[in-house]
Amino acid sequence: MRNKDSATESVREALQLDVAALRAETPGCRQVIHFNNAGCGLLPAPVLTAMTGHLNLEARTGGYEAAAARAAEVREFYTELAALLGTTPDNIAFAGSATHAYATALSSIPFEPGDTILTTRDDFISNQIAFLSLRKRFGVRIVHAPDAPEGGADVPAMAALMRTHRPRLVSATHVPTNSGLVSPVAEIGRHCRELDLLYLVDACQSVGQYPLDVREIGCDLLTGTCRKFLRGPRGSGFLYVSDRVLRAGYEPLFIDMHGARWTEPGAYRPVATAARFEEWEFPYATVLGCAAATRYARDVGMEAIARRTPALAARLRAALEPVPGVRVLDRGPQLAALVTFAIDGWEPQPFKAAVDALGINSALSYREFAQFDFGDKDVDWCLRLSPHYYNTEEEVDHVAEAVADLARRAGGRRRGGR
Ligand SMILES: Cc1ncc(COP(=O)(O)O)c(C=O)c1O
Repeated sequence: MRNKDSATESVREALQLDVAALRAETPGCRQVIHFNNAGCGLLPAPVLTAMTGHLNLEARTGGYEAAAARAAEVREFYTELAALLGTTPDNIAFAGSATHAYATALSSIPFEPGDTILTTRDDFISNQIAFLSLRKRFGVRIVHAPDAPEGGADVPAMAALMRTHRPRLVSATHVPTNSGLVSPVAEIGRHCRELDLLYLVDACQSVGQYPLDVREIGCDLLTGTCRKFLRGPRGSGFLYVSDRVLRAGYEPLFIDMHGARWTEPGAYRPVATAARFEEWEFPYATVLGCAAATRYARDVGMEAIARRTPALAARLRAALEPVPGVRVLDRGPQLAALVTFAIDGWEPQPFKAAVDALGINSALSYREFAQFDFGDKDVDWCLRLSPHYYNTEEEVDHVAEAVADLARRAGGRRRGGR
């Protein structure tokens, strides 16, 4: 009980946000209890207006003409994200997804056989698959840093591996998709800077949830999406590219007419900015939606969001922990707003369907998403609940009670021998 009380206290302290007003601006709050922000956040009204307004303009005036008319607003995608991440607009590239941004960044690294990629056991599934693909094609070596006993990468051990392997690339995921772990990306970054190693950070789940500063993290490249905790549209992502990387001439393998000038029949010149990593075609309504979402997050206040959002998740964990048949899986010195748990007596799809039927949005994670982490935890699947600042304490308590009820039902079925 003490656990729940202290979690409640920290949520109270964090209540500087006008949650009622924020919910009134979020049409989805009237429909569902949305605990799937790690999948996709609910769009606030200003984001929806920015996007539908642009689609209407395109329909009325033409797609190219609408983009030209809104050039200044499109520019705000770069200024807003730069302000959010502590960099300049010239260091930001738009991408169609975080994965696309990540793959484009990887494609700019001239890997050679025998090069090492040093990563963690908690790096995102698609990043791990991309490393394996690079191994298959270029013969790179993949080294995983060991975990610390409390969860997350063991930074001193990772730093020792940096010294022995001199990796071509160091990669870390700030918050993974499959648990609430917050990885020590800035500590890893300090070692990368000391040793002058190329450092790529996946901030897909942390952007919009925590304040991020690329200078503090010490990364060369950082990827993210706008659709999750930033509450932007689907089909969007971004890449931060440091001046170091731009000056060193890194360019994506398939650079196009937007990223480069075709200077003569046999030559091209990459542009000087991170636009080098973009493609010519843009979904402008989406880009404007991302600009609006980033502005919205900054207006709400990243410090207040970072206090309230993980505190709601902590309240949920505290309520789930004592429930018989439920095992909360999140481990780590700091936990984000992704609450994961295993539940006895249920198969994944029927359990998710039962949660859906209660008007609660959630997501399933499978061992395939996290071979190392789920292997260590000895689970094949879990349910992920990810609240955001616009969710309420009442919703958290209601969801915890609903899960407890479903756990009881499974317990009853087992006792009844069915
Ligand atoms: C940690 C992490 N990285 C990357 C991604 C991929 O993002 P996208 O689907 O935008 O490519 C996800 C998506 O869930 C994620 O959770």
